[in-house]
Amino acid sequence: MRKPVIAGNWKMHMTCAQAREWMATFLPLIAATPNDRELVVAPPFTAISTMADLVKGSTLELSSQNVHWEGHGAYTAEIAPGMLLEHDVVYAIVGHSEPRKYFSESDEQINHRARSAQSNGLIPIVCVGETDEQRTRGEAERVIRRQVEQGLEGLDPAKLIVAYEPIWAIGTGKTCESTEANRICGLIRSWVGSPDLIIQYGGSVKPGNIDELMSMSDIDGVLVGGASLEAESFARIANYQAG
Ligand code: PGA
Repeated sequence: MRKPVIAGNWKMHMTCAQAREWMATFLPLIAATPNDRELVVAPPFTAISTMADLVKGSTLELSSQNVHWEGHGAYTAEIAPGMLLEHDVVYAIVGHSEPRKYFSESDEQINHRARSAQSNGLIPIVCVGETDEQRTRGEAERVIRRQVEQGLEGLDPAKLIVAYEPIWAIGTGKTCESTEANRICGLIRSWVGSPDLIIQYGGSVKPGNIDELMSMSDIDGVLVGGASLEAESFARIANYQAG
């Protein structure tokens, strides 16, 4: 039985003061949310300590937006697993299309990050997905398969989340058709060969499409960017009702 994971990625948004305000609105809205789903938010590093205090006693868990493969060292701007565990962080997003694009992160680096997360007791959320051009050229499946094979090499599928995020759908308002997202998530599951693997969809998820997405048989949750910045809209997503 795969328990859906609803995760919000705040990216480079939210000061500590804004995070406090967000939580004051959000927590009452999830007080009656069924516990058949996990709720997660990934704040920027500067707000993790504040958020760690605020989530205490709630069902909300924390994710980081990155994690390094070394425990410490001369890696300016990076974050070590132990620094996250100190704040009760449970998940770590790796391989998001933004660091892949802006900082040329490779599948090999992403694999190092994900392995480091797992071996330190964090659950990596490994993002994969094709660009618009790759989809138009009919290369989507080949690209995603390569990302899956290289990025997930040596990982334990029982302590892993894969997020299928077609890049053309991120922050554009263009959601992937739910049936197509479901088809790709099913393919990923078959490539990994683990029926219990949790696979999220990400890309312009919002209150208006969450119920349909969560009704799909191979979509086990969502990774939400823009719509997680407003507490009300993320609460509506958290309170999805699958048909
Ligand atoms: P979006 O971002 O929901 O704003 O499209 C998704 C993501 O980047 O994970």
